[in-house]
Amino acid sequence: MRTSYRTAYGPPDVLTVREMPIPEPGPGELLVRVRAATVNRTDCGALWGKPYIFRFFVGWPRPREVATGTDFAGEVVAIGSGVTRFATGDRVMSFHDHGLGSHAQYLRVSERRPIVRIPDGVSLEAAAASMEGAHYARNFLRCVPLKPGDAVLVNGATGAIGSAAIALLKNAGAIVTAVCAEPHRAAVAALGADRTIDYLRAPFTAQLEGETFAFVFDAVGKSSFGESRPLLAKTGVYLSSELGPRGENPFLALIAPLMRGPKVRFPVPTDIPQSLALVSSLLAQGVYKPLIDRRYALDDIREAFTYVNSGQKIGNVLLTFD
Ligand SMILES: NC(=O)c1ccc[n+]([C@@H]2O[C@H](COP(=O)([O-])OP(=O)(O)OC[C@H]3O[C@@H](n4cnc5c(N)ncnc54)[C@H](OP(=O)(O)O)[C@@H]3O)[C@@H](O)[C@H]2O)c1
Repeated sequence: MRTSYRTAYGPPDVLTVREMPIPEPGPGELLVRVRAATVNRTDCGALWGKPYIFRFFVGWPRPREVATGTDFAGEVVAIGSGVTRFATGDRVMSFHDHGLGSHAQYLRVSERRPIVRIPDGVSLEAAAASMEGAHYARNFLRCVPLKPGDAVLVNGATGAIGSAAIALLKNAGAIVTAVCAEPHRAAVAALGADRTIDYLRAPFTAQLEGETFAFVFDAVGKSSFGESRPLLAKTGVYLSSELGPRGENPFLALIAPLMRGPKVRFPVPTDIPQSLALVSSLLAQGVYKPLIDRRYALDDIREAFTYVNSGQKIGNVLLTFD
């Protein structure tokens, strides 16, 4: 089989694609033929080993997994002894932010990992593109008391997390104002956003002056609490996927109980099984349609990482293996 391979942290140059024997599933393990996976911003963190603190989770002093990849959609082609939850032929999907080594044609994985069946009628590509962004979006949104009818602003609506957040917010009955660049307004509106704002015309804070939101979710971490505060209701909450200027967001979240007015929350994403259960249910109902940007063959994995790391991808970038 062909697999991505690296033994050190660094830019895409450290990554090669090489031939390896197809692994045998051991007791309690599945052998999955990977059909689609994403190259995402979490993969970039695991390739570069940055922020450095991430190395405590993905391997210190070198990466634990030689293959990159945090998610996959594929078919179970063999099972080891004692496997009870899955059978050969099952279509399955999985995500783990600390790495699965899934940028490979075949993958040996314990059935105790968070793995779910792909609902009938859902393509393997759609399944692969539905996990990383949705996991983070769900974790941010579940830390606020969201109600149907709440006005929510999503900055970075075109990203993997932002586009997933729109789908989850609309499913929860929120009224969504989405910030993106003019060329992507149609794609973001198609996700269900009630209104789109082009941040290239003027900062979204200026364009929305005088309006009030229950929550501001900066899914690309390009704003700050200070800039967004005038847009928040007194009980409003600011969420950001990034640490913020001078790393202030975790600190502001820590002192939130001491603050009057709008607050910051900065959750540590957990509970991947619940995220997978949610996306699989929404995919089955046909109410979750991931935004897919482009596809790269496994042999072009370096180019895929370079593009994803540019911060300009639209939704999700797929890696294909055939
Ligand atoms: N906290 C966590 O646990 C966690 C986990 C994973 C990722 N992250 C971080 O989350 C961030 C988002 O990741 P992602 O994969 O969703 O993003 P992404 O897909 O890389 O987002 C790229 C999109 O963001 C938009 N964008 C770029 N600059 C912008 C700006 N100034 N204002 C508004 N939109 C802008 C661009 O769309 P337009 O052309 O439409 O502007 C671009 O297509 C990354 O910084 C990543 O490191 C955090």
